[in-house]
Amino acid sequence: MRSFVIAAMATTMLTTAATAADITIKFSHVTAESTPKGQMALKFEELVEERLPGRVDVEVFPSSQLYNDDASLPALIFDDIQLVAVSLSKFKKYTPSLQLFDLPFLFPDMAAVDRFQASPEGQELLDSLDGTGIVGLGYLHNGMKQLSANTPLIEPDDADGLKFRIQASDVLAAQFEALGGTPLKKPFSEVFVLLQTKAIDGQENTWSNIYSKKFHEVQEHITVTNHGVIDYLVASNEEFWNGMPDDVKPVVEEALQEAIGYGNALAQSIDDEGRVNVEASGYSTVHELTPEQRALWVEAMRPVWAQFEDEIGPELIAAAAQSSGS
Ligand code: SIN
Repeated sequence: MRSFVIAAMATTMLTTAATAADITIKFSHVTAESTPKGQMALKFEELVEERLPGRVDVEVFPSSQLYNDDASLPALIFDDIQLVAVSLSKFKKYTPSLQLFDLPFLFPDMAAVDRFQASPEGQELLDSLDGTGIVGLGYLHNGMKQLSANTPLIEPDDADGLKFRIQASDVLAAQFEALGGTPLKKPFSEVFVLLQTKAIDGQENTWSNIYSKKFHEVQEHITVTNHGVIDYLVASNEEFWNGMPDDVKPVVEEALQEAIGYGNALAQSIDDEGRVNVEASGYSTVHELTPEQRALWVEAMRPVWAQFEDEIGPELIAAAAQSSGS
């Protein structure tokens, strides 16, 4: 009996040794698997495990299963997780310059976001977290933001007095204050319940996030504003990333860039599909703005640029505006 137990233990140890990878990359994020970020994360897992079998194991935790965004950056710094793709709106504590991406009506569409990110200024911003323990590895797209509430938001005055959930961003707070609204910084994982219980009146998000998290089921009106962008910084713990063995790191890096390219190539169609699904569901009425109505929103929100010019840097804002043709 004793020799049987020892043999069984030895078999277990051998099996463990054969299957356990040398390196584990825990990738925590907050959106559904159907979103561009969810798809990118799964692609990264597939590519790495195919190319480095037994050496690197990627564990993906979607939908805030492990951490919400605010908790994930400290967890990354402590090396509890090794990869994140956090909204650029949530980095204020670590760098003021990424607040650029929250300026309302800076980018007319995702092509303009792409152009700026590929520019020398956009690429330099990837290094803006140097010294924080976080290394920026690339930009990942979600899409343009739309506004939703339980009352129609056709002109800026319609937002006056309403409570809006925002990401942890002072620029977004200023944007809603400029409309006379009350901004509330809350994690993405809490938005549905806040809307459902009417603790908040509205929110801003992309079509794919609205649809995959069912916000449209608890919001009667959605206005096509495209007033801002949700984009991500894919980032790792600097020591972990640079400490990977020489025969592993380039393979992981290449897989990551391929996965980012894959996610970015899918982003627009996933967002378009989100809109089609929201409209087909019949829960919310979708409002298009006339050029005159849109101009009123631009006029109401645009003063936010001047408020943050010193923190972000006027040259950076000018470079982004130039890529946008705005
Ligand atoms: C995300 O897309 O990662 C979350 C966006 C949000 O917090 O609204």
